[in-house]
Amino acid sequence: MNGQGLVRSVKAVSVVGPARGWRAVRSAWRRSRADAAGLPRRGAERARVPGAVTGVEPGPGGGVISFARAELRVRVTAGGAVFWGWDGAGPEPSYAVVGAGPEADPRAVLEPDKEGGWRVVSERVTVVVSRHGAVEVRTPGGVVLRRDLPPRWWEPVAGGPARWLQRSEVAADARFFGLGGRAGGPRLRDGSYRLWNTDPAGSFGPQDDPLSLTMPVQMVVADAGTHLVFHDNTWDGSVTLREGAEGAGSGHDRAGCSELRMDGGPLRCWVVVGAPARVLQVFASLTGSPAVPPSWALGYQHARWGFGSEREVRRVVAGCLDHEIPLSALHLDIDHFDSHRVFTVDRERFPDLPVLAKDLAEEGVRLVSIVDPAVKADPADEVYASGRAADAFVRDARGRVVEGLVWAGESVYPDFTSPRVRRWWGGLYEERLGQGFAGFWHDMNEPVSFGAFGDRTLPRSSRHALEGRGGDHREAHNVYGLCMAQAADEGLRRLRPEERPFLFSRSGWVGLQRYGGTWSGDVATGWPGLRASLSLVLGLGLCGVPYSGPDVGGFDGSPSPELYLRWLQLGAFLPLFRTHAARWAGRREPWEFGPEVLRHARVVLDERRRLLPYWVTLSHLAQRTGAPYVRPLWWAAPEERALRDCEDAFLVGDALLVAPVLEPGATRRAVRLPRGRWYDTTTGRAYEGPGQVLLDAPLSRVPVLARAGSVLPVRGADGGLELEVWAPARGRTGSGLVVRDAGDGWELPEVERYVTRREGRDRVVVERDCGDGELREVTEGVRVRGLGDGG
Ligand code: GLC
Repeated sequence: MNGQGLVRSVKAVSVVGPARGWRAVRSAWRRSRADAAGLPRRGAERARVPGAVTGVEPGPGGGVISFARAELRVRVTAGGAVFWGWDGAGPEPSYAVVGAGPEADPRAVLEPDKEGGWRVVSERVTVVVSRHGAVEVRTPGGVVLRRDLPPRWWEPVAGGPARWLQRSEVAADARFFGLGGRAGGPRLRDGSYRLWNTDPAGSFGPQDDPLSLTMPVQMVVADAGTHLVFHDNTWDGSVTLREGAEGAGSGHDRAGCSELRMDGGPLRCWVVVGAPARVLQVFASLTGSPAVPPSWALGYQHARWGFGSEREVRRVVAGCLDHEIPLSALHLDIDHFDSHRVFTVDRERFPDLPVLAKDLAEEGVRLVSIVDPAVKADPADEVYASGRAADAFVRDARGRVVEGLVWAGESVYPDFTSPRVRRWWGGLYEERLGQGFAGFWHDMNEPVSFGAFGDRTLPRSSRHALEGRGGDHREAHNVYGLCMAQAADEGLRRLRPEERPFLFSRSGWVGLQRYGGTWSGDVATGWPGLRASLSLVLGLGLCGVPYSGPDVGGFDGSPSPELYLRWLQLGAFLPLFRTHAARWAGRREPWEFGPEVLRHARVVLDERRRLLPYWVTLSHLAQRTGAPYVRPLWWAAPEERALRDCEDAFLVGDALLVAPVLEPGATRRAVRLPRGRWYDTTTGRAYEGPGQVLLDAPLSRVPVLARAGSVLPVRGADGGLELEVWAPARGRTGSGLVVRDAGDGWELPEVERYVTRREGRDRVVVERDCGDGELREVTEGVRVRGLGDGG
């Protein structure tokens, strides 16, 4: 065990408590014994590389190129995505890609390249395959965006899955982002990143990796262009990144390098090139559109592990009302369960949940329930009994049901990779709906089994259905949370077809956005944890999961009033805005930090409510375009290097730039501005980008800037929708999209497009673009800001 492993194990025992310590030891032993018996030893291996090209067979969108010891299929899709797969790997079967994947581009042609290689030429991208199996992806202009060197395999002589290695080169100036939720980003520094969803056992900071939601998805941003690369493989693996270096005009650049090693599974990959917005759009068409949360899930939410009773819940909600805190949802953690057993209620402490839910709903507050996947192995437990009857639980290589250790004690795990089990599990949410819950919070679904040492999850030899293909936990582990989300989503749609489900999940994989969002998990209370929260949300958005957010205030300990406030000021501009903390942590209600914090907290909470129509718009646009609600500054100008390296500010949609305070004691901060005019939304003062400005950031607020010309839908004083328009600079125009809330059902509201133009010094004209070139001026419900500053 390495040092970090030891620290984690010690933390693990402390989290489960000394009383459970010996059980954690037993659980870990049980897991390692299961694997010793159930996993074949690798034994001797044979190494293989493709060898020289031997032939070619044209096919839709490209074709199959044969080498002495391997075969490569290349296909360019109609949307311009590139697929390549070795040794017969095609886009299916896949947990990420929806349907059979996109159509091949009928106009892409496979033709010979120099020195015996081949290339596929299409309108948006060119793929060049060398004689020995290196694959280059080039822009139509011929600039190389990435070069994947010939892969290497290690095949066990006795048979079994081959390990493989793929080394790739990118431009010397390229920056890496993504790989799912990473605490140390958003820019991923040199180092190794594991692809294995992992509960960090206790709270985590930027140095902890991996976490609960890893994805083999990288967004690579360079002067020559942006591209996304997705290795569709759910096995354990790692990505080692090394940024390149430029030789300062000497011509000796060192390429950026990424090395992917996988323990098994197909060697196949999707590459999408283009502007970030286009890349995410194509990726969403490949892996599924993000679900639109109900609008209440875009308001302020509050949770705590350990509210402990209905009385306490009522006290907290009353506190919000008294302090004029606009609360939209309250989350009940495992302490409302009967002895921590999922789909049960502790009737002593929560005697009548449906009535509580109804009373809260009258105050505009929804109830959200935690749902853990593990089911207590107890014949008296109804869920266990029905799961046994349905043969729903994961078994080991010898056919015995696998037991692990979680909050309720010895537990068993539904096999969500079976459609039959998903259906059974989805039906269980009926009990939750009956209790009055409106949304669901999936936890511990990496999945976790406490253990005093080793990997705190199921034995790798555990068997899974894998949609009927059959396989073991090595392949199923990373999609466990994803398939649990699918089960819940499908169940909720059946049970309550008229409403969009709301769910978010700690673990997941590529495609989670189809069912819901995620949250950070147990981020450590402290300034590094605050920074990690932003990194996670930005990285996940670039991997296609746009709805997420941290435990505001941090999971453990007690934040200082200053840290709490800064976290609230950040969280208010992230999609999932929720305060939450552990049982043993200090309080997180805004009034618990003194009158000054409460005053400032109210300002930012009110601002979140005022911007709700904008969040609703962003959630609908994400569904239609794949664009994350919050984005790194380089989103619209990836060629601007200074923006690529800016990690302490972000964009909310196209219109707002938020510069949170991420360090103690700051009352001013430098803010990097992209090109164009930006208004400080508090002072109304205009700044011209690109460049850097120093702005006030007193305790009462963080800098938020609005892009000149933008149109933001906001909640007016009367509760109706108002258009906040930021004056374009003279001679300039602007625009904005608005999607109105159409309730919690499935109606697809129209996207309204507005254009703005400055006329002379004092007038801004706002027009609705009604299509077919018809522009209609809008004057009512419009509030122009930024006029009179600089012209
Ligand atoms: C996990 C979750 C945390 C939750 C706790 C108890 O640590 O990440 O949010 O409060 O379990 O359910």
